[in-house]
Amino acid sequence: MQLSLEQEAKIKELMAVMTLDEKIGQLNQASVSIVGGFDVPFEELIEMMTDGRISQDEFHKIMATTIKDYHEEEIKQGLVGSMMVQNPATSNRLQRIAVEESRLGIPLIIGLDVIHGYKTVFPIALAEAGSFDRDLLKRTAQMAAKESRADGIHWHFAPMLDVSRDARWGRVSEGGGEDPYLMSQFAKAKVEGLQNDQSSHLNYVAACLKHYVGYGAAEGGRDYNTVTMSESLLRNVYLAPFRAAVEAGAATVMAAFNDMNGVPCTVNRELLTDKLRYEFGFDGFVVSDANAIRECVAHGIAADEADAGAQSLNAGLDMDMGTEIYLNTLKESLAAGTVSIDTIDQAVERILRVKMWLGLFDHPYVEEVENDDLLEVNRALALDSAKSSLVLLKNKDDLLPLAKETKISLIGDLANMPSEVAGAWAISFREKDCVSLVDGITKEFPNSRYFEVGGLETPINEAALQEAFDYADVVVLVAGELVSMSGEATSRATISMPGQQSQLFAALEKLNKPSVAVLMNGRPMAIEKEVDQVDAIIEAWHLGIEMGHAVAQTLSGQNNPSAKLTVSFPRVSGQCPIYYNHPNTGRPAGRSKFTSKYMDVSHEPLFSFGYGLSYSSFAFDNVNLEETEDQILISLDVENLSQRDGQEVVQVYVTDKVGSLVRPVKELKAFEKVSVPAGGKESLQLVISKQDLGFWNNQGDYCLEDGDFVFEVTNGHYNTIKFEKTIQF
Ligand code: BGC
Repeated sequence: MQLSLEQEAKIKELMAVMTLDEKIGQLNQASVSIVGGFDVPFEELIEMMTDGRISQDEFHKIMATTIKDYHEEEIKQGLVGSMMVQNPATSNRLQRIAVEESRLGIPLIIGLDVIHGYKTVFPIALAEAGSFDRDLLKRTAQMAAKESRADGIHWHFAPMLDVSRDARWGRVSEGGGEDPYLMSQFAKAKVEGLQNDQSSHLNYVAACLKHYVGYGAAEGGRDYNTVTMSESLLRNVYLAPFRAAVEAGAATVMAAFNDMNGVPCTVNRELLTDKLRYEFGFDGFVVSDANAIRECVAHGIAADEADAGAQSLNAGLDMDMGTEIYLNTLKESLAAGTVSIDTIDQAVERILRVKMWLGLFDHPYVEEVENDDLLEVNRALALDSAKSSLVLLKNKDDLLPLAKETKISLIGDLANMPSEVAGAWAISFREKDCVSLVDGITKEFPNSRYFEVGGLETPINEAALQEAFDYADVVVLVAGELVSMSGEATSRATISMPGQQSQLFAALEKLNKPSVAVLMNGRPMAIEKEVDQVDAIIEAWHLGIEMGHAVAQTLSGQNNPSAKLTVSFPRVSGQCPIYYNHPNTGRPAGRSKFTSKYMDVSHEPLFSFGYGLSYSSFAFDNVNLEETEDQILISLDVENLSQRDGQEVVQVYVTDKVGSLVRPVKELKAFEKVSVPAGGKESLQLVISKQDLGFWNNQGDYCLEDGDFVFEVTNGHYNTIKFEKTIQF
């Protein structure tokens, strides 16, 4: 983080005059919820809004009044460094108190969960990463930064970089999936998009990499559960995206709730300081996750709150999210000698530097604008990202795309729930901006009709279903999960189709008419049976405000699908965790009973990472592999054999045949997305640095071992070319 000499001097000046209370105040992110007479944690408030128990207006009112009741006085005294706020009037009001009424006038840093867009909601990360489009990932982050900064939000609690291999864990939806390389590319693009356009203070925000680290490996897929892993697994898989994002210049990091090998991340000095700061070179500040310092007492790692606070600060955790334990106990801990003033100073300085870098001292306020209609460019990018993120999983006899005059019977209650398109953690969108599937499809196909047959929230209405079947040339069933079934605290032990939706699939199997399923969900689902019961399947995830248009335009062929899966789909829940890049076993699944498999179900996933169809078919030609001193160069021609323009994702997987540690069966090491016009051909080159062919061992050393490697060039299914090469480093 680069500051000018003048800015550095200003920080020194402040540090010299701050009282101990004011210093500790900077480390305090005041909670809007556990105080002020409203005794509901912030996350629950969000949940209440998401599931409709309170309206968005009520949510804002609660936020505004609880802040008013309690925090104004604290802010005036310099005892608050940060808050979570999501409207410009409140942000300005609080900021004015901090800047104009507190003794030193240090501005607040205002943070919020802007996970996949702010008012303009883009696809959930799990979907968007599947676009394999680095530039798109960056542009949506850039737009979210601008849109939220205009509302007085300086800091996004994003990107979420938890590699997740277990679909039972509901937070799979928030990150880029199961692969460390794709997640690292996602991480870099997101950090660049959020932070890099510093041409105006209104164009950037601070990123917050979360949840550091290993949160996605929660045992049994149960949220907040314990995590145990080897040093090599930690480094090769879970730390990789964080390292990439730190290298891209991320300003902040959030410590995860979970313990890592027995030490909660909140108090884990080895992770927060030795690795993050000394090894990766991170120079921003670290915030706890919500209420996590207090949870160290429940973890049984701290005797009481003061102990939890002292351990956290000493581990390298700079800001306390929501418990006020730093505020209430650090002074005593200093007197007792369990923390030092140097450690406190260091944390304060880190926070002030980020505030300075954000331009908050010069531009603390925002303009309060009345008209908050979405701009056309925002809608256009939301549509573009949605179209680029949906995955075609099945298309029997090229049923799709459908002619415009097709009589579509649209069924499934998710189709008619506009706010369900937004996905988990979207907390700042307006329902009026959301395009449901009913809106989108009836607009695109004039002869389409929506039939209220139920299935998810309401029991199936057989009469309506019969009517739908009678009317249809083609039935389109929208099925999956409600938004409230993914995201935080939404682990599911059985990830099958909820409600009676499976019965709708079964009815389609019996029907003598073509059928399409559009899946709306925040995690891979165990739907082996359902996949066989319909003719075509679009995995549409939760695609954001333009979802209805994106799906409709895909059904009609205006959009040619191009995304790939970022996670493997299990056949049954009991296969979880399932992921493509698993280590070799001594008994790979084979015909013999005594190999690594199940008695009752295949060991293979239903769909694997990297899979996804297009309306075009592509051929790979002239595939060549060349080795230079420090790189592997793969060149090829991608030919579009169809009559429509399309895009293909070329993926290169590497297998290290023999290693001093058991190696993954294969690992993604490079990808490029290429647009190829109908009947055309494009040449492209993919580059793998030889440095990236190594791995971390359990002593924390990076090993580059000479030997034989297999390079597999593929589009995730029918085009696969392999090269074997002996490499010396
Ligand atoms: C979540 C974080 C989030 C924070 C603040 C926590 O419960 O784990 O991802 O950023 O709340 O809302």
